[in-house]
Amino acid sequence: MDNVLLNALLRPETIAVVGASSVPGKIGYTVLDNLIKCGYQGKIYPINPTATEILGLKVFPNIIEVPGKIDAAVITVPARLVPQVVEECGKKKVKGLIIITSGFAESGRRDLEEQIVETAHHYGMCILGPNIVGTLSNSDKLNASFAPFLPLNGKASLVTQSGALLIAIDAATYTRNVGFDKLISIGNMADVNIADLVIWLDEDPNTTCISLYIEGLKDGRQFIDAGLKAHKPIIALKSGVSAHGAAAAASHTGSLAGAAKVYGAAFQQAGVIQASDLSNLFDRTLALSLQPPMKGDNLIIITNGGGVGVLATDAAEKYGLPLKFAPEDVQTELKKYMPEFGSAKNPIDLTGQAGNEWYYDAVRYAIAQPWVDGMVVLYCETAMTNPTEIAHGIKKALNDSGITGKPVTVSFVGGEKSASAMTYLIKEGIPAYAAPDVAVNAMAALREYDNLRHMVSEAATPCAPSDQAAARAVIRRVREEGRNTLTEIEAKQVFSAYGLPITKTLLARTEAEAVKLAQKIGFPVVMKIVSPDILHKSDAGGVKVNIKDEASVHDAFRSILANARNYKAEASIHGIAIQEMAPWGTEVILGSVNDPTFGPTMMFGLGGIFVEVLKDVTFRVAPVSKGQAMRMLGEIRGAPILAGVRGESPRDREAMGNLLCNYSHMILELGDEIAESDANPVLVYEEGKGLKVVDARIILKKK
Ligand code: COA
Repeated sequence: MDNVLLNALLRPETIAVVGASSVPGKIGYTVLDNLIKCGYQGKIYPINPTATEILGLKVFPNIIEVPGKIDAAVITVPARLVPQVVEECGKKKVKGLIIITSGFAESGRRDLEEQIVETAHHYGMCILGPNIVGTLSNSDKLNASFAPFLPLNGKASLVTQSGALLIAIDAATYTRNVGFDKLISIGNMADVNIADLVIWLDEDPNTTCISLYIEGLKDGRQFIDAGLKAHKPIIALKSGVSAHGAAAAASHTGSLAGAAKVYGAAFQQAGVIQASDLSNLFDRTLALSLQPPMKGDNLIIITNGGGVGVLATDAAEKYGLPLKFAPEDVQTELKKYMPEFGSAKNPIDLTGQAGNEWYYDAVRYAIAQPWVDGMVVLYCETAMTNPTEIAHGIKKALNDSGITGKPVTVSFVGGEKSASAMTYLIKEGIPAYAAPDVAVNAMAALREYDNLRHMVSEAATPCAPSDQAAARAVIRRVREEGRNTLTEIEAKQVFSAYGLPITKTLLARTEAEAVKLAQKIGFPVVMKIVSPDILHKSDAGGVKVNIKDEASVHDAFRSILANARNYKAEASIHGIAIQEMAPWGTEVILGSVNDPTFGPTMMFGLGGIFVEVLKDVTFRVAPVSKGQAMRMLGEIRGAPILAGVRGESPRDREAMGNLLCNYSHMILELGDEIAESDANPVLVYEEGKGLKVVDARIILKKK
């Protein structure tokens, strides 16, 4: 989406309200009133077929009769009239339409929605909405919405898919003391989508943090791309994470790929920080909009009370910033700013006697120490000290230190005096919270931001060269036979074309051939039925392992065939696979689905019981870099098993990293063909000894 068009839409110099009404209580009245009341400086044109003047402004019967240009039009006429109005706006060369009206795709009228988008695009216009509250901007004094007032002024901007939530957040900005520059309701996203607004807000001079409330993205990959390109922190709260696509999936991966996991992975890959709930969205947004990222893991906590210090210490561990003791020289210096019984280890406990001078000295010294990457300052209201003075002490110390690149968050625990001291701090650009764990969580968001920035800069290049043509040739043959399911042998050929180490597997059509191939591979071997109609081979009695000699090959061949026929008489049988019997290793599983929002998406976890019962898996949208692949290995609860527990040697993590990386490229490159796939189990050996994909499955998209 063109940012010039979005500028006209969201920061218009002239605006029309089509459907302006003189009847208080109507949305067309409220929007006009809001524009005037909130001090919009551009020209406002009310449009109404019968009125002549509303709220002191001259009314035009239709938009075409307005003299001069119009950047944006807010539309507040009923849905059935919107197509006509959009047409007229096009003729008037309006650039952006803010369509508040409901009654489109959200209520079954997708056709009407498509019609207005088509007309808008025909005339080169863009549409925000429909089905929205509107858009608000403090820096433009623009309230083009039916939300009652502009939000508390601040540096973050919020895009929300829920209009009702926008109005609630608007009011809550004042009670929660979290300011926003812009609040944008995006509604049905018929045209302008979240990714467009991320790109636009990234260039908006009045926005330092992009805050998102997301119900569902339309184009996940476009969103990831926008996130990757952004230069500002983005934080998202995703709702509706309960039952996404889990039902009808044939594979493990499909049934395990809940929205929470896939969105969580996509956010991470897009460099987007997550909020756990609405409250957390406010708290983290405040810190991200006011403070720089935390560039290392060393957090220092300065407090006047042991209790809040311990609460913050617990929170630090919980949110991934476990405290370390300050270096000796730092402790020695800090000891000067506290009584004998204080503690300079970390948390730095200045004790309840600490007044603003001690806070000043400790904060000023500590923030300047190279060891310190971020600071949380805590204060418990006491009878002897004055919260406002402490707040001023902290602010002055930070100013006097001359340090600007390190983040600081604050928590004052107490009553009204503490609350007003925190209001002062926030106005001065220091995020302050009523609870110590919240201040630590906000700091953790600043650390996450820095980590994510580094993560997204890694390029996702495949680890092994691939032969896409060979893989496609296998798929083409399967298609020619009118099948959607590859046999294990075919799936392994595709895997092998992408450098995935597979167990040697050959197809025997006759008993005699089976013996010959078993000798070629070397005993012991595994024998498996090869049939596109039998997906669950073991259930069909179609697998025999540890076959040690020729006689056993004959027996196995006959019994597998008999079992398969019993299981499914009409199954088409290609033959029997003779396979090298891989030595046993740690079982892991790899799988993929074609997620409706993000496309090819990969899963990794420990195999066997761990995947069945514990659902101990992690996801990424393909492709993944080697770095991301290695991170996936560490994300599952069973990670210590891969690292080596109880005297077991570590598993070959390097080989697993390569496997994940190559697998992700395979599912992406063949994304137009593969619906689902898995490598299950993959047997992983000790460090340096590699791994083997023992079984493989690929299901093609229906065409
Ligand atoms: N051009 C300009 N004005 C027109 C018009 C036209 N072609 N045709 C009609 N109007 C005027 C009407 O005369 C009326 O003004 P009046 O009060 O002076 O008569 C005004 O536009 C509004 O039309 P009306 O029929 O009274 O509609 P309404 O105000 O009852 O409802 C909506 C209009 C858009 C508010 C309503 O259809 C709707 O969608 N409501 C839900 C909106 C919402 O909640 N969105 C956010 C979801 S999160």
